[in-house]
Amino acid sequence: MAEWQKISAHAIKARGVFRVALAGGSTPRSLYEHLASPEINKQIDWDHTQIYFGDERCVPPDHADSNYRMVNETLFSNVSVPSDHIHPMFDPAFDAVENAKRYNSLVSAFDAFDLILLGMGEDGHTASLFPGTFILNETREKVAAQYVEKLSAWRISITFPVINAARHVIILVAGENKAKVLAEIASNDGDKLSYPIQRIVPTGNLDWCLDRSAAKLLPETIK
Ligand code: 6PG
Repeated sequence: MAEWQKISAHAIKARGVFRVALAGGSTPRSLYEHLASPEINKQIDWDHTQIYFGDERCVPPDHADSNYRMVNETLFSNVSVPSDHIHPMFDPAFDAVENAKRYNSLVSAFDAFDLILLGMGEDGHTASLFPGTFILNETREKVAAQYVEKLSAWRISITFPVINAARHVIILVAGENKAKVLAEIASNDGDKLSYPIQRIVPTGNLDWCLDRSAAKLLPETIK
């Protein structure tokens, strides 16, 4: 991913460190595998990279649903990023709220992420910012815990203030099941914030990275 390399090189040159928050779910798997490939891996300055998570399920790090496990399998176990540069979001020794507090302190130690990778669900959620949940209106904390009724599960997530303060945000969307929501978002006049992802209005750069299936209902003019 050329953007990762460009953004990270600029951040390291400017501030001596590249801070990135990774997306969970299944879409980013192939990106993480690509970053771990021999020809790309050796071009990345892992020693000056700090890796965080944008959200996490409240399960142990070896659980099938864990975003940490997915990234560990696809990326961490195949590159030489120093272990203390990896910041898991959920420690099973603490509950969701305590984990969120700890991560909030961690993320509050610096001004902004250089890059935040996000996905999008069929309901227009991003990170663990789901429709109809209180966390959508969190303006003070940078990280919060949220019980998600539709999942019957706790989640931890960065909040919109953190996302919108990032220098770069890249939203990765793949699959025909996302096409309808994307088309609605692209067509609406912007004042109807029907979906959480529409609240992403970063002061920095925002790029959408779509596959053909997800983009199939979009007007030709914006493809
Ligand atoms: C998570 C993600 C979530 C994800 C979307 C899309 O922890 O599940 O952070 O926001 O990006 O649900 O998931 P897929 O990539 O699996 O479609």
